Amino acid sequence: KDVFHASSNPGCVAFTYEDIILMPGHISFPVHEVDLTSHLTKKIKLKAPFVSSPMDTVTESNMAINMALQGGIGIIHSNLSIEEQASEVNKVKKYKNGFITDPVCLSPDHTVGDVVEIKKTLGYSGIPITADGKIGSKLVGFVSARDIDFVDEPTTPLSTVMTTDVTTGKEGCSLEEANQILRGSKKGKLPIVDASGNIVSLIARTDLHKARDYPNASREQKNKQLLVGASIGTRPNDKDRASALVEAGVDVIVIDSSQGDSIFQLDMVQYLKKTFPTVEVIGGNCVSCSQALHLIEAGVDGLRVGMGIGSICTTQEVCAVGRAQGSAVYHVGRFARKFGVPILADGGIQSTGHITKALCLGASCVMMGSMLAGTEEAPGEYFFQDGVRLKRYRGMGSIEAMSKGSEKRYVWGDDAIQVKVAQGVSGSVVDKGTLRRYIPYLCQGVRHGMQDAGVSSLEMAWERLYDGNLRFEIRSPAAQREGGVHSLHNYSKRLY
Ligand code: XMP
Repeated sequence: KDVFHASSNPGCVAFTYEDIILMPGHISFPVHEVDLTSHLTKKIKLKAPFVSSPMDTVTESNMAINMALQGGIGIIHSNLSIEEQASEVNKVKKYKNGFITDPVCLSPDHTVGDVVEIKKTLGYSGIPITADGKIGSKLVGFVSARDIDFVDEPTTPLSTVMTTDVTTGKEGCSLEEANQILRGSKKGKLPIVDASGNIVSLIARTDLHKARDYPNASREQKNKQLLVGASIGTRPNDKDRASALVEAGVDVIVIDSSQGDSIFQLDMVQYLKKTFPTVEVIGGNCVSCSQALHLIEAGVDGLRVGMGIGSICTTQEVCAVGRAQGSAVYHVGRFARKFGVPILADGGIQSTGHITKALCLGASCVMMGSMLAGTEEAPGEYFFQDGVRLKRYRGMGSIEAMSKGSEKRYVWGDDAIQVKVAQGVSGSVVDKGTLRRYIPYLCQGVRHGMQDAGVSSLEMAWERLYDGNLRFEIRSPAAQREGGVHSLHNYSKRLY
């Protein structure tokens, strides 16, 4: 009746996204009515079901901020010191559209030469001066290009050239109010200060023009801050990491492991749920119902599904363990639904078609690495190779990433490991432009797919899937070739 029901027998064939195709349904609604709202965890709902992977070439604060603005969420990777990771989380929580929350500040003892250097490296010279040169301290002046342009001596201290009569905005003011003040002062920058005169953020006139509304943004109900996640491992000091992340305001902790059904992870889930009851916990990874059951019994609020199927993964090759992702998502999704635990289809996504398949197979959200690593918001610089603009992308189990500490994802309960075994590779991915355009493209692609399948929401897709009315067929190898571009010499690969 259904290829996936048959495959639940051990020893049966498992299917990848490429092996299967959705049968069309009846369309009775326009494409814009397809609702992609979905749960990431029991409590967290997203308007765009997209999550960026906790990988050091994918998610730091810039990616997480922009994922959340577009309705998804980013999971900050843990190949950082505890302080660095907590600070990345904090940047997301403090983000306010149009406000620069960590502006470069200098002290009155810094020199004109320091400002020239900042202009050279960062491109601007409008700098708040605080008593100790740090954000959060008392604002004592401001230096702009016109204060230093005619000073010839680079060692001149800023105390002698800075403007001390600074126009400021009050903490909590809206962008509209800030705009009014800037218009009146005719200045390029506006420092925002708290009641004691300490600088909390900065507004640049140029950024104001770019500030837009993000109606789908993923925000907390209470104080409207952006939602953010962060990953941890299962070693004892990951408990300290979790405390620091919670202190920084993290909304969801993802326990990062390629095989989540271990006593180390089950203990960690129980510890986190007991110690931080308001923080959501995603466990994994898992690909079978028995793995999922152990994690559900330990108390997870969401499950991450996928093993050895990521674009940079060699786990299946090296360890001979894993499962084809289409089957993993279907079986774990169907099982976890009975317990009200949403699942996140992690890895192996190569197109909007794969996202649609993952969601229609029972995933609440998809987690992506390679799809997002080439965007402007991913860490790292672009470089050219053979005329193609690329960014580096590496598996967290690659030797390169593990030497920075990420082997905790692949080694459990044994800190004394001498021989590293790579379970990932490193390479590069093609430039994808900015998330501001890419995420809307992904959303619209998925809406078209769901419309063709005749389902206008994920809940509707799952109801039909489980009662046999949303159907997948297996594609033969020839059918897979037929379904791709063929019989064509040169063609444009533009996505949007
Ligand atoms: P994609 O296909 O989106 O996959 O690039 C991203 C997911 O792959 C997992 N991951 C790894 N798996 N070895 C593995 O076996 C690795 O080195 C590795 N690094 C990341 C992870 O689940 C991620 O979200």
